[in-house]
Amino acid sequence: MKFIAGAPKGETIIRFAFEGELGGLKDEAKANNFWGRERELLVTYDRKHRFLVAGLGKKEKFTTEKLRRAAASAGQRARSLDLPDVSVEVPAGDRAENTQVVVEGIALALYEYKRYKSRNAKPLKLQTVRVDGDADAVHRGEVYARATCLTRDLVNEPPSVCTPRYLAEAARRVATKGVSVQVFDEKKIEKMKMGGLQGVAIGSTEPARFVHLKYRAPGARKTVAIVGKGITFDSGGLCLKPADGMLNMKDDMSGAAAVIGVFSALSELRPRVNVHGIFAATENMPGGSAYKTRDVLRAMNGKTMEIINTDAEGRLILADALSYASTLKPTEIIDLATLTGACVVALGPDISAIFTASEKIQKGLLAASKAEGEKLWPLPLENEYMEMIKSDVADMKNSGGRWAGAITAALFLREFVDEGIPWAHLDIAGPALVESDRPYRPAGGTGVMVRTLLRYLEDQ
Ligand code: BES
Ligand code: MN
Ligand code: ZN
Repeated sequence: MKFIAGAPKGETIIRFAFEGELGGLKDEAKANNFWGRERELLVTYDRKHRFLVAGLGKKEKFTTEKLRRAAASAGQRARSLDLPDVSVEVPAGDRAENTQVVVEGIALALYEYKRYKSRNAKPLKLQTVRVDGDADAVHRGEVYARATCLTRDLVNEPPSVCTPRYLAEAARRVATKGVSVQVFDEKKIEKMKMGGLQGVAIGSTEPARFVHLKYRAPGARKTVAIVGKGITFDSGGLCLKPADGMLNMKDDMSGAAAVIGVFSALSELRPRVNVHGIFAATENMPGGSAYKTRDVLRAMNGKTMEIINTDAEGRLILADALSYASTLKPTEIIDLATLTGACVVALGPDISAIFTASEKIQKGLLAASKAEGEKLWPLPLENEYMEMIKSDVADMKNSGGRWAGAITAALFLREFVDEGIPWAHLDIAGPALVESDRPYRPAGGTGVMVRTLLRYLEDQ
């Protein structure tokens, strides 16, 4: 499917209507009980055209997210009607923004993961979507959606296919013009004294990988490091998860996959900041050589970590990834990780948490996430809770127990960011994978935070 900027052409036109503002369609709309409310869709004809009219709700309550969802449902109807091409009329207002949003909505809604379907894989008929906006905005929408869908593919891939080596290869593939990549194997990981990553990896037969992507912008005044958790399967280790808790743990590399998705778009978007993309990748398995409770691991920055629970593995590999990121002296560090079940308990499957002491990063990320329709909510880095991860034998323990699990995990990560480097941690454990369809997010990997991060980088 491709998107083209241009005036409407052909038989089918997607257009949008505010509630009660139905213009020439009034009788037709009434007959079909269509009022232009959110989630309503009207299919109608005149002598020349077929119209798919999507409701936006009340004009004074308009948001771009409503437009994205309306475009998504119109796109899905075009698919179910087996239409080969459609034209879209972009609503007035901020035309560039609305154009991008419409393209995102359609492209993201028509995403399918069918690699392992041998039957009933009905091909998508929709070939061409013509959008009456400017070419730049159409392109931007396409790039944002394509990056998100690359991340979705990586998350959806079965865990025995998407191994640490597979993730590293995926990172290599996005390192095209303007982007370079370094992949560190298990020997280099040992040499660099990444004891957290090594400790988690030792119970698995799959070798670990550590990946560093680099994007350079000429004349950039700022360097952002984006760090992702890349557990390609989280069994819990010796503190084995029960079956239902393990079911979706192929998604535990969603942070790393988002880093790869973001980098796949940078050479096309050319934001004016330098960007480092960093992730540590390993399985967390209970093999005979697996790390054990009361083991003590030493992270790259020299700090020691006492193992209370082998299922709190994400923070151990992030300890090394954040230490490594700190050595690069970036202007700021943003990590994203499917870090805690506690965060899912707190915010549910649709909202990610942000932890940061930097008002500036928080403001920027909240604005970007709102514009992209990705829900993000601040939780506190409560200093007093450092008490909960105090260890008798090491610098910290890797689990603070039952209470405030998302907060103590974030406090743990903070110990590995050099003081003086502004940092934000995003816990995406809930939204990284959804078990039922959402608007423009089919069940499965969502690619959450890819678009938010792209917009954030473009806004710098
Ligand atoms: N990958 C999990 C967190 C997770 C849970 C992600 C549910 C997505 C959905 C993480 O490694 C984990 O197991 N965390 C433990 C930490 C605990 C042992 C301190 C948790 O949250 O239960
Ligand atoms: Mn775990
Ligand atoms: Zn995990």
